[in-house]
This record gives sequence, structure tokens and C-alpha cells, in this order.
Amino acid sequence: MIKIYAPASIGNLGVGFDILGAAITPINNKILGDIITIQSSHQFQLTNIGKYAQEIPQYNKKNIVWKACKLFFEKIQKKNKIHIILEKNLPISSGLGSSASSIVSTLVALNIFFNYPLKKKKLLQMMGSLEGEISGEKHYDNVAPSYLGGIQLILNTKKNISNSIPYFKKWFWIIAWPGIKLSTSQSRSILPKLYKRKTCIQYGKNISQFLYSSYTNQSDLAISSMKDVIAEPFRKNLIQGFLKHKKNLKKIGSLAYGISGSGPTLFSITENKNIAKKIQKYFLENYIQEKNGFSYICTIDSVGAREVK
Ligand code: HSE
Repeated sequence: MIKIYAPASIGNLGVGFDILGAAITPINNKILGDIITIQSSHQFQLTNIGKYAQEIPQYNKKNIVWKACKLFFEKIQKKNKIHIILEKNLPISSGLGSSASSIVSTLVALNIFFNYPLKKKKLLQMMGSLEGEISGEKHYDNVAPSYLGGIQLILNTKKNISNSIPYFKKWFWIIAWPGIKLSTSQSRSILPKLYKRKTCIQYGKNISQFLYSSYTNQSDLAISSMKDVIAEPFRKNLIQGFLKHKKNLKKIGSLAYGISGSGPTLFSITENKNIAKKIQKYFLENYIQEKNGFSYICTIDSVGAREVK
């Protein structure tokens, strides 16, 4: 038997649309990621359990874990006699890399269960393709951090699809999910197909500054680069009170603020734990719209997908 946990993630980090993502873990040790268990069986069987199991397609062929298994067995050309159990702990269409967490935990668990037939790069490619099937376009900024941990920069080299970059250990990432859904494909469909040259140059400057500051350990400089000129100008309209919360959180001491992935989860950054608690309180009182919504103070999950007991 094998049991794998894959953490939630924040795609884009504001500054790096589709090319930067962070794996996160709540400081209170709350589980914020899906878990896959695989056992031997006489036939293929998929069971969905967990808080959000009812939200995912029960019809197996539409289930992302089923699709991930199918793709894996095609690649290794083996029979699929396993019982796979998905513990769905992340809400879907939340902006926390919920589908990525299911995909990553499934492929990592399968690869271990069948004694590592596929290499890291191949697995990551498969994760990106499966993610693309759900969101309409391939992007790695959730699957890569959920798989590899830390902050991942998506590359385009022969050897690597993604690489860890240094991150600021003192930063608290406060996330808040209001309890409502916003699908990635919907959030992507409202973005322009073309951007102005001025916007492209500004995007380039921001991401360069963020990377430079990360490698030279200049937190203030990194914070000042965290401006989203690609998605936020359009997606903010999908998020109730986005600008009001930005203003109020700044007053509390939030250093940076933005949309996690394609939303509706929001994130805020501070280096101060007391301010982090105030931001969390603000989110809980002002952003949560349904009773199952939540807010956590998180740090970067340096490990990514891992075996759990
Ligand atoms: N980069 C993706 C997007 C992340 O913003 O559409 C989706 O979680």
C-alpha cells in the first residue's frame, strides 16, 4: 500500500502568470491537499472520499484521477489491477490548485507503486497535460509546485520543465477561500488574447525584478515587483470587493496581495505573525461568503508531494 499527499498551491504569484507557483502549507498543520492511497486489487477500482468528494465527477471516466490512471497505464503498458482511493481535501475551482493536487498525488503514488517506471520530467509533462484538459490550456504553475515543493519557475529547456527558485523564509502567505467556485477555464476565457507592448514590457520588468530579488535575497524589492498586469486587471471584476479588500489589508500591514491562481482564493503576504493573524481575521470576517469558506496562515511547503502514514 502507498499513500501520497500533494499540497495546495498558489499559481501565478501575481507577478508570474502561468510561470511561477508556490506550494503552501498551513502553520497549524491542517491538511491542505489531496491524498491518494493505492492498494493491490483483483480489478481496477476508484473510490472518492473526503470532505469534497461529492463535488467531483463520480462518473469515473470524467474523474481526473481516473484519467491520470489511464494515461499512466498507457505509458507503462501494464494492467491496472489496483484499488485507488482519492481523499479529496481541497475544494474544486477554488484557485488553490485542487485538480493539480489530485493529479500529482495520483501520478506520484502510481509511479512509486509500480517501482518508478517513469522519470520526473515525463511525470511532470503528464501532469501538465492532464491539468490542461481541465482548464483548457496546459500550465504548470500548480502541478510543478505541488509535485516538487517550494516556489517553481517554469522553464523551457530540454532538461527541465520547472526549477526551484530561492524564496523568502520569513514570509507568511495568508490565503482565503470564500466558499464559492470559479472555474479556471472561465477565468482564463475572460483574458485578452493579445496584450499591448507596454503591458508586455511591464510584465517582463516585474518578473525580472522578482527573480533578481529572490536570488539576491531582497525582500522589499521582491514585494515591490509583485504587480499583476496580465490577469488581475480583468479577473478582479470576478471577485467581490477586490479593491476594497486590497485597501483595507494594506492598512492592516499586508505587504502584497493578489489572486491565487485563477481565484476566487486571495492571498496576502506579511513577515509579521501578529499582522498575519489580523489579516486572517479580516479575511474571515469580510471575505468568506459561505459557511465552508476558510482562511489559513501558510508558509511555503518546501517538500511537495510526499508519502504519508
Ligand atoms: N496560471 C493559471 C491561471 C493558474 O491563472 O489561469 C490556475 O490556477
